[in-house]
Amino acid sequence: MQKITVQSKPIAGQKPGTSGLRKKTHVFMESHYLENFVQAIFAAIGGVGGKTLVLGGDGRYFNDRAAQVILRMAAAGGAAKVIVGQGALLSTPAASNLIRTRNTDGGIILSASHNPGGPQEDFGVKFNTPNGGPAPEEVTNRIYEATKAVTSYDIYETHDADLSQVAITTMGNMEIEVVDPVTDYRALMEKLFDFDAIAALIAGGFTLRFDAMHAVTGPYAKAILEGALGAPEGSVINAVPSPDFGGGHPDPNPIWAKPLVDLMMGEDAPDFGAASDGDGDRNMVLGRGVYVTPSDSLAVLAANAHMTPGYKGGLKGVARSMPTSRALDRVAAARGLDCYETPTGWKFFGNLLDAGRATLCGEESAGTGSDHVREKDGLWAVLMWLNILAETKVSVAAIMDRHWREFGRNYYSRHDYEGLDKTAAEAMLDDLRARLPDLPGQSFAGLTVASADEFAYDDPVDGSHSAGQGLRIGLAGGERIVFRLSGTGTAGATLRVYLEAVEEDPARLDRPTDEALADVIAAADAIAGIEKKTGRTEPDVRT
Ligand code: G6P
Ligand code: ZN
Repeated sequence: MQKITVQSKPIAGQKPGTSGLRKKTHVFMESHYLENFVQAIFAAIGGVGGKTLVLGGDGRYFNDRAAQVILRMAAAGGAAKVIVGQGALLSTPAASNLIRTRNTDGGIILSASHNPGGPQEDFGVKFNTPNGGPAPEEVTNRIYEATKAVTSYDIYETHDADLSQVAITTMGNMEIEVVDPVTDYRALMEKLFDFDAIAALIAGGFTLRFDAMHAVTGPYAKAILEGALGAPEGSVINAVPSPDFGGGHPDPNPIWAKPLVDLMMGEDAPDFGAASDGDGDRNMVLGRGVYVTPSDSLAVLAANAHMTPGYKGGLKGVARSMPTSRALDRVAAARGLDCYETPTGWKFFGNLLDAGRATLCGEESAGTGSDHVREKDGLWAVLMWLNILAETKVSVAAIMDRHWREFGRNYYSRHDYEGLDKTAAEAMLDDLRARLPDLPGQSFAGLTVASADEFAYDDPVDGSHSAGQGLRIGLAGGERIVFRLSGTGTAGATLRVYLEAVEEDPARLDRPTDEALADVIAAADAIAGIEKKTGRTEPDVRT
């Protein structure tokens, strides 16, 4: 085994986005690409010497190779120890948990989340800080600056570490602890939720289907839902992580998890359906005949959290990303809870959770979580739902109905226009931004604009300021439209249009979402000129 110093030079474009650095896999496989970025992470944390890190990923193509490179660089940099999931696997929430409970100096997670995997698809690397959360902007900026200054990196020339068995080994002076990816995570879930009550519900005939989408939550869901809670074998499907996620998009939404949605809307629907994404932090929840929007799911969890052991003492506060519907705000108002509005990106919740200002938080992009870790957590949300269902003993549809009757309903949908020309998409939003001051008072598709601004966030904990976080249009009837460009794509631009209308009339709580939002959708197009400027008549994805 020999330590070598490899000469390198900065590679352009290694700027972490909403959630780490994401690029096409072949880009990460180009010479020095991964190494330079890892070197920049080490530089940004003041060197890896003497430090302990957690390492794992979602099992996508190149996950195993990248893990070996990172281990050899960490060892060469003098790291004390790396805790790695067996097979280099760790779901994002499980990694967050290990980073926290083992008092480490942070962790490196290999994932492009819900983006497809494979040689022609996407790969990603993100660094999480010692609190277990995604690196805040101040750290990602430091990483980016460091990528611009790389001149060389150290690495060991040695054979691969054996990650196939749970064991402690060494590489040079560095310890490598290979852990079962599921054990600690399952123990945490057992503390938060009433497993006996959920098991009794299932034993009583309650049926469920969990689609792991060929991604990392397969082993977790098998162990917890089928193993600990006794759901019959086959309740968890697509449970073996595959390098290309079975050729699909591991994104739990009505488009990419259509087979599950079809099942839940059909005659043979089980009582409960759920899916999670590539790295296990997102979730989708369905009941027989009902799809629960992520924004509604967050509101329902907030309203009922006290029924579960981990949250029976109540919530310190709640938080949502700005584009997420304001269903949560209604629960917070009714229960006297503080409700924070943050920019898109889980990293913005970290300070609120650390400071004890919020317990529960979530995003429209299928992310819900709490202060149990510092990432969103797909299976956690599923277990919380199951715990609530076990307590209330009613169907998902009945829970939603009750919820809307009590709090009103925020009809909500997100329309995505994918693969747009980046310059054209930016120009469209630049144009809209320039017109914002003139919009109030004007009417579009019969709706009058009441307010229009660009969202900026002042973090109440560390005082940091984040500008340019989305264009918001408030309409006179309480409707809202938000426009922003995705920060997680790897090619072109994706325009996201978030549409919301509030309904308090008990007779109008059961309308089809598209019908309830028809005017808002028309107004969005009229305000931004989507069709005129992009040539697109329909979004690619509606969530
Ligand atoms: C990732 C992040 C989320 C974010 C989502 C959508 O999943 O972890 O925090 O909401 O991406 O981001 P985007 O910029 O693509 O809308
Ligand atoms: Zn994810």
